[in-house]
Amino acid sequence: MKLLKPVSVEHLPELLRRMPKAELHMHIEGSLEPELMFALAARNGLTVPYPDVESLRRAYVFNNLQEFLDIYHAGTLVLRVEQDFYDMAWAYLQRAAADNVLHTEIFFDTQTHTGHGVAADVVINGLHRACVDAQAKLGLSASLILCFLRHLSEAQAFEALEQALPLREKLVGIGLASSELGHPPEKFAKVFAKARALDFRLVAHAGEEGPPAYIWSALDVLRVERIDHGVQALRDPALIQRLVRDKVPLTVCPLSNLKLRVFPTLAQHNLGGMLDAGLVATVNSDDPAYFGGYINENFTQTFAALGLTAQHAWQLAHNSFEASFIDASAKRVLHDRLEAFYETFDPIFRS
Ligand code: ADE
Ligand code: ZN
Repeated sequence: MKLLKPVSVEHLPELLRRMPKAELHMHIEGSLEPELMFALAARNGLTVPYPDVESLRRAYVFNNLQEFLDIYHAGTLVLRVEQDFYDMAWAYLQRAAADNVLHTEIFFDTQTHTGHGVAADVVINGLHRACVDAQAKLGLSASLILCFLRHLSEAQAFEALEQALPLREKLVGIGLASSELGHPPEKFAKVFAKARALDFRLVAHAGEEGPPAYIWSALDVLRVERIDHGVQALRDPALIQRLVRDKVPLTVCPLSNLKLRVFPTLAQHNLGGMLDAGLVATVNSDDPAYFGGYINENFTQTFAALGLTAQHAWQLAHNSFEASFIDASAKRVLHDRLEAFYETFDPIFRS
């Protein structure tokens, strides 16, 4: 492991905020802030079932993943036309650039929207146009991962895949999201095999609320390259060994885990334990409009709660670039940006 000069606790939040990083686990529908939700509702002649932004935000208290998914799903009803998807993604991309995210891989789903009568190509074209603009106007590279909804059937996932295929070039990967318990990865074995044959990169949520067995089957049955969340892996020593041996990245979302009560407090989060075990963990925001913060807020709050250091920060940023689905030369550029940042971020030289 690369050894770095220590950075004082006082300078750590600034280092975390300015540090170049990639975000690999965020759902674009979960970045829809109440202000934009109300604006899109007004533009589309719809109403949000809350009197104002503040009362909507006050409703964001969850006891588990399902309670969150119900509210999250209701929020997507304001998204009707391509420009809505563009505006939502553009708002996130600007926030990400402000947090010094250099590369982001955005989750979205089409099944929620086709269920409301919005065609898959409307969703994909709006999001993709924002990604193209992010590269041109913000210098931020962004790609799209289509997630199947695991509470629906595999036949419905096949349908979503078919609908997306004419826009194949606008997508980098396929993922699996929504209600985890009772919907193990193997339910989607055939559709993931098809996606793999089509050269999609593969990821899946596993071990957020679900057991280590779901992580095993995401790896062995779906053959995914990354595990989204994966925090339950630490309950299974053989699984830890496997994840370390194969350098399988885990896209961890600490504020999400706190808000959905996967851990009672941030101080009890196992991110530090994951890094100590040699797991390729990364830090991400999941659904930042609902969980109290974007990626830098996840970094600063978690580091404060767990007493993590600049050494851990470097490892997490390095992991985020290494785990990304960009090509080797683009990866090298991002790693170099991180090294250059650490070379120059020296409070001694700055004072
Ligand atoms: N969809 C949006 N956020 C999610 C999460 N944390 N887990 C599963 N599905 C999701
Ligand atoms: Zn997620």
